[in-house]
Amino acid sequence: MRGKALAAGGAERAAAQHAKGKLLARERLDILLDDGTFEEIDRFVTHRSTDFGLADNRPLGDGVVVGSGRIDGRPVFVFSQDFTVFGGSLAEGHARKICKIMDLALKTGVPVIGLNDSGGARIQEGVVSLGGYADIFLRNTLCSGVIPQISVILGPCAGGAVYSPAITDFILMARGTSYMFVTGPNVVKTVTHEEVDFESLGGATVHAQTSGIAHLVGEGEEATLLLTRRLMSFLPPNNLDLPPRALCDDPIDRADARLATIVPPDSHKPYDVKDVIGMVVDGGDFLEIQPEHAANLVVGFARLAGRPVGIVANQPASLAGVLDIASSAKGARFVRFCDCFNIPLVVFEDVPGFLPGVAQEHGGIIKHGAKLLYAFCEATVPKITVITRKAYGGAYDVMNSKHVRGDFNFAWPTAEIAVMGPKGAAEIIFKQQIAAAADPAAETERLAGEYREKFANPYIAAQHGYLDDVIEPQETRPRLIRALDLLETKKDSNPPKKHGNIPL
Ligand code: HXC
Repeated sequence: MRGKALAAGGAERAAAQHAKGKLLARERLDILLDDGTFEEIDRFVTHRSTDFGLADNRPLGDGVVVGSGRIDGRPVFVFSQDFTVFGGSLAEGHARKICKIMDLALKTGVPVIGLNDSGGARIQEGVVSLGGYADIFLRNTLCSGVIPQISVILGPCAGGAVYSPAITDFILMARGTSYMFVTGPNVVKTVTHEEVDFESLGGATVHAQTSGIAHLVGEGEEATLLLTRRLMSFLPPNNLDLPPRALCDDPIDRADARLATIVPPDSHKPYDVKDVIGMVVDGGDFLEIQPEHAANLVVGFARLAGRPVGIVANQPASLAGVLDIASSAKGARFVRFCDCFNIPLVVFEDVPGFLPGVAQEHGGIIKHGAKLLYAFCEATVPKITVITRKAYGGAYDVMNSKHVRGDFNFAWPTAEIAVMGPKGAAEIIFKQQIAAAADPAAETERLAGEYREKFANPYIAAQHGYLDDVIEPQETRPRLIRALDLLETKKDSNPPKKHGNIPL
């Protein structure tokens, strides 16, 4: 019987899967999990349909391999859809197997990783199959914020089936062999007359860059599964545990001299905040999330003295680090994930404000910007901010300011904290004086210089206690580590409520 279950859809379909550059369900688990740790359950489950010739076709396992295993020695529950059995399509038995491990995962506080490769709802089973999806969606929602849920897309994931991965915390896609969409190219053509192929409608590249649906993309299946292991190394098993602390051989007091000059003297000149992150965190090791989407805000995981932290950083090298719709939504989701799972937040701030424009206003920057504000306000994990340069306008408040419960707020001497940039400020407050001047441009320049001298520095904020200290850039790593040490025992909470109403 075990041999029969292993044979699943048969040698021919297995060969067809390999010919497409895809691995089999169990081969994928072998890469994802520590060697020899996979323990399968429900391998003898079969469907109970009789329509459309199914009475004589009852493959063991019903198109999905489920069970538990370990990643770096830590337990996970997994399911892996088997495309060689009815195209990995989801039906009653298949769904019940997934629900069973989700229920176990929730009770035991263990993450769930789903490997998706499926033709969607099993057409022969009809509504029973739709019900199976809904059973999974419900569990995805109940598990949200309790255990990490990761979706790895390694083939088709289409129709309503996309909504399970969509609710989970992270979606990883394999470039070239995976796609996700609600309606495929044929339906799109019928309804909107647009001609589009699978890859450009819902391939990994489009979801990594344009929609932001894919958090990480691997070049091929093996790379995607190894990336999943790397992601898991930063995450706790559940919302009651701390993330795993790694051994750290990078000196805690390492002061990288390059930090002193990384911010250019001309405040219009960009620099790459990822260089700053690399110089500060353990071993320069940074797992960036959604690297190709909304590049003006960098988010991702790193470690400080072995402790996982979530980094949120404005990127002056992209759109001057401005906050817009896409970056606000990206940041908000990341901040909320970290807050759910006890991962301290470290913010590097250099933001000229929110992006002006009709498209942004009509697209709802008010509501989307509020998501990031809300996320920082509600977060109760340790929260530390380092202002490297600009902290202007509402964006100063949003980016984990002292006022929204930042625990330690530091600034480099290069910080400029003001309601707006000096030139814009001078043009408004000295409007008449500039108009009356013989040379209005020179007068604007002079008055902007005065404004900069007075306000565009960290010391007024420090005077008010809105900053805890102004630090030399080279001190950043040791100061962050000492702050995190102090915050290890931090306890904070929000008023009791059913749930908040984040502006979605
Ligand atoms: C039953 C299915 C199936 C399905 C594929 N198969 N999808 N069986 N139900 N949904 C079977 C095929 O009959 C075939 O069986 C085997 O899987 C492989 O399929 P191929 O078509 O040969 O593979 P390929 O050429 O790679 O194409 C893959 C595919 C295509 C693009 C996924 O199979 C496809 O379009 N399938 C239908 C997709 C779909 O419309 N699903 C319903 C969506 S609605 P044999 O025996 O020949 O190997 C939906 C609603 C969910 O999912 C709602 C939740 C709320």
